[in-house]
Amino acid sequence: MGGPLSGMSMDPKARKQALELVTYGLYVVGTRRGDQKHAVMVNWLTQASFDPPLVALALMKDALSTEMVLASGDFSVNVPAADQLEFAKTFIKRPRHEGNRLGGYEFYTKTTGAPIFKDALAFVECKVVAKVDHGDHLIFVAEVVDAGVHREGGPLALRGTKMHYAG
Ligand SMILES: Cc1cc2nc3c(=O)[nH]c(=O)nc-3n(C[C@H](O)[C@H](O)[C@H](O)COP(=O)(O)O)c2cc1C
Repeated sequence: MGGPLSGMSMDPKARKQALELVTYGLYVVGTRRGDQKHAVMVNWLTQASFDPPLVALALMKDALSTEMVLASGDFSVNVPAADQLEFAKTFIKRPRHEGNRLGGYEFYTKTTGAPIFKDALAFVECKVVAKVDHGDHLIFVAEVVDAGVHREGGPLALRGTKMHYAG
């Protein structure tokens, strides 16, 4: 593989603008390594297959969460409600882990051992089935092995938060 495939003529401003127009949600990905639990806010996450049910998640290569997913082979995806931006933002910086709380938010574990936040609208638990190692993020392809809905509501979106993670 190797060098960049992008043409010399590509306008970097247009690339950034176009990629920032992609619509994203915001999610809290829960990870574990032994008894250690961690969670991180992400937007680069999507469903990627119906059968089997797969998701694709891109995690920064030097992130603690990446190390932990590589070690455990699983993670949870927690979907915050539209009014839970503060909850989601807690997980941009490494949250403090105390007992059954991360960043002050209570979690429980179910099938994989990855933390599941009861405050979130819903969750899926995933087991890694493949990895793509090409850019500065590692892309995990993972099968959904459990799921739950805590309450009804609309999900949090990246657009409108004034934050960006694209370009
Ligand atoms: C708007 C926004 C979106 C983000 N999306 C991702 C993402 O998709 N993947 C990722 O690895 N980090 C993402 N981050 C950065 C993480 O929240 C986190 O700061 C970083 O991954 C460090 O994680 P660590 O605590 O596991 O080391 C995003 C940050 C912001 C502000």
